[in-house]
Amino acid sequence: MIGIILLGGTGSRLKPFTNYTNKHLLPIYMLPMFYYPMSFLIEIGVTSFILVINKQDQNIFYEILGNGESLGLNINYRIQERPEGIPSAIFEALKIKKNFDDDIFVSLGDNILISSDTVQYIKSNKFDKNKALNLLFYVSNPSQFGVVDFKKGPLIIEKPKIPPSNYAVTGFYYYPNKFLDKIGKIEPSKRMETEVTDLNNILLKENKMNFYKIKRGSLWTDAGSFNDFQSSSNYMETIFKMQGLLYGCIDEICYRKGLISLDQYKKRINDHYGLTSDIGSYLYSTIED
Ligand code: DAU
Repeated sequence: MIGIILLGGTGSRLKPFTNYTNKHLLPIYMLPMFYYPMSFLIEIGVTSFILVINKQDQNIFYEILGNGESLGLNINYRIQERPEGIPSAIFEALKIKKNFDDDIFVSLGDNILISSDTVQYIKSNKFDKNKALNLLFYVSNPSQFGVVDFKKGPLIIEKPKIPPSNYAVTGFYYYPNKFLDKIGKIEPSKRMETEVTDLNNILLKENKMNFYKIKRGSLWTDAGSFNDFQSSSNYMETIFKMQGLLYGCIDEICYRKGLISLDQYKKRINDHYGLTSDIGSYLYSTIED
């Protein structure tokens, strides 16, 4: 399974910061935003990634992650020339090879999910790899997201004024290889973007999609607006102050999973974070565990 992380788009809700930096590099507490969705994918067992990025950001992402070797990962990059929509960005990733023969787990680069029940579910044999999967989260503000109408269909309604349920469709999507030909066929909507909700509704109609309702006690946010950006940072800070633990540390997760050796972990801490940074000293402290 290949992980595809979408790191393009304009980040218009986080202007002015996104006038001069990529949204996904903004800090959620001590870590760049995109570390969180990436760490979820690593937790479920993904080690091979395609990152879809804007042209102007290619050097900076390469500077952070390179080809993934220092983390025991395999990382490739594709440039999305224009923010034409989520399916278009996924389609760009699929162009990496002529015959794309893997299943994919897509995550939006601004989605944070801390959920051990979801990780367990995806790693278990309850997860049907022959169908697409959408992860759903119960929220108080459904109008800001794609929302499931369980009575009609079910089908997903994108940012409904009157939400038919409180279940938001999160930005984590699994698609088996056999359905990938549908992605490039999605037509742009009225706002001239291809919509992931259109893709998912086609799969739902054809009974090719399952939902998983993320359990209580988990955290999901779309950090792409100031409110959620701030609350996500506060949440991570609270956990750190109470437990001394950080979520989203891709380096720590790769080390704990045995993808890199202790020497490689130390080298990555030294080379990338240094010992005087807060995150560098946190990562060092995890070695003594
Ligand atoms: O966060 C979950 C929501 O994400 C879902 O509930 C919605 O159904 C789904 O449409 C999506 O809504 P957003 O309005 O949050 O999508 P946004 O345009 O902000 O894009 C989400 C991420 O995808 C963002 O991190 C940037 C990336 N992206 C987006 C576009 C349009 C790309 O890489 N390329 C693109 O062309």
